[in-house]
Amino acid sequence: MNIGILGNGVVANALAEVFHKLGHPVQIGVRDLKEEIEKKHFIEYVDGKDIAEDNEIIIIAVPGNKVEKAVTNIKNPEGKIFIDLTNPIGEDYILTRGRYTSNGEVIQEILKDSHIVKTLNTLGVEKLINPCVNEKKLTMLLAGNNKIANKKVEELLFEMGFDPMLIGDIHFSRYLEPLAMIWIEMVRKQGKSFENGLIWIR
Ligand SMILES: NC(=O)c1ccc[n+]([C@@H]2O[C@H](COP(=O)([O-])OP(=O)(O)OC[C@H]3O[C@@H](n4cnc5c(N)ncnc54)[C@H](OP(=O)(O)O)[C@@H]3O)[C@@H](O)[C@H]2O)c1
Repeated sequence: MNIGILGNGVVANALAEVFHKLGHPVQIGVRDLKEEIEKKHFIEYVDGKDIAEDNEIIIIAVPGNKVEKAVTNIKNPEGKIFIDLTNPIGEDYILTRGRYTSNGEVIQEILKDSHIVKTLNTLGVEKLINPCVNEKKLTMLLAGNNKIANKKVEELLFEMGFDPMLIGDIHFSRYLEPLAMIWIEMVRKQGKSFENGLIWIR
């Protein structure tokens, strides 16, 4: 499956490597193709606006306060699956959205004919690429409106080594985004390791 990633930062590059190892062709969408960047041989670099052209799943991995600008520019997004892993974190690590809306819902409103699945936002990058603690698979919660898209993303999460768990439609993003603050604040204020993660006992 062709996977596109919007953004070329820490998470984008870590996930690109995971998908490449799993055998998926990966494109990274950058803001300015003319800008000199360090390139990896297994990644095809495209203009961010074109990230939906060749890919079945597109991961939005831009800063949480830049999502509107980043997704508004994407050409031909209709019918595509977008994984939103962003967290709306502003200055001083304050959540800039929550309670009445979320990045996931805002992106779904902008890309109204696409299928947004919120997931992969609740763990630090170290655990995103190695979702296991004491040989136990970590649970990855996901939320989205479209059954087929949710299923596809569950399959991808399973391939990545997660135990995926669908919690509801895209409005559940407003609960998933604050959840990320738990590990972020534990790391920042208590010096806890990034090596934590949730396991849901069913
Ligand atoms: N870091 C983690 O452990 C972690 C874990 C889970 C979720 N997240 C979430 O994942 C997202 C990315 O985090 P990160 O740590 O990878 O951030 P990062 O290293 O700062 O990377 C962000 C990337 O987005 C690019 N970008 C910004 N605006 C863009 C646009 N309009 N079009 C295309 N690319 C654009 C930036 O490009 P420029 O350099 O050109 O600005 C940069 O390459 C955030 O929302 C974060 O909350 C992070």
